[in-house]
Amino acid sequence: MLITKNNELSEVLKIVLDALKSAAKDTGHPFRFMSLATIHQQVPDIRYVVLRAMDAEGCLYFFTDYRTQKIGHIRANPDVALLFYDSEKGVQIRMQGTALVHRNNAVAEKFWMTVEGEAQKAYNPVLTPGTLISHPVEAYNWPENMGNSNFSVVQIVPSEFNVLQLDGMNHIRAKYVRNDDKWKMDWIAP
Ligand SMILES: Cc1cc2nc3c(=O)[nH]c(=O)nc-3n(C[C@H](O)[C@H](O)[C@H](O)COP(=O)(O)O)c2cc1C
Repeated sequence: MLITKNNELSEVLKIVLDALKSAAKDTGHPFRFMSLATIHQQVPDIRYVVLRAMDAEGCLYFFTDYRTQKIGHIRANPDVALLFYDSEKGVQIRMQGTALVHRNNAVAEKFWMTVEGEAQKAYNPVLTPGTLISHPVEAYNWPENMGNSNFSVVQIVPSEFNVLQLDGMNHIRAKYVRNDDKWKMDWIAP
């Protein structure tokens, strides 16, 4: 269990935000891989991304190649959802927010410094992600000098989230809605 019935709503908020902060640092944390949902031309899409950082304002960050479809989706509609699940603790977090794309700016530069060696390949394939190919090996092609021109950092500003703690028949569910710098907190029926 991550949270219990004895926790106050403010404690639950801190526990959840602390768990996400840990996941951004710990590669083995269950919240490290988050599902990112986007909407494009009224069609929903979803995929996993890696939670790379969380800042003091509660914004979450992941890295991607600017040429991926998800960037096109976000640029057309920045409304996104995130989903996390810790199967050992039986906790689900569902989050809504607005995504901002950083590329060729100070934020992207700062994070690019942390992407070393082989890891840079993820943002440098010669072929645009999603290109139709006749065999998988066609895609294993990178330039000799890898740059950061397509490296993008996506910042998600959460507007609302809810947490569900599974516990037999006594689940616990709480909802948090952001009002400027404060969170409106409520228990809700699971
Ligand atoms: C566990 C896992 C982690 C992933 N992390 C990332 C990531 O951090 N950034 C990313 O762009 N793609 C990541 N991917 C790949 C995406 O899920 C997706 O297949 C790819 O980015 C293309 O998505 P798009 O066409 O929706 O843009 C990850 C996939 C898995 C299975």
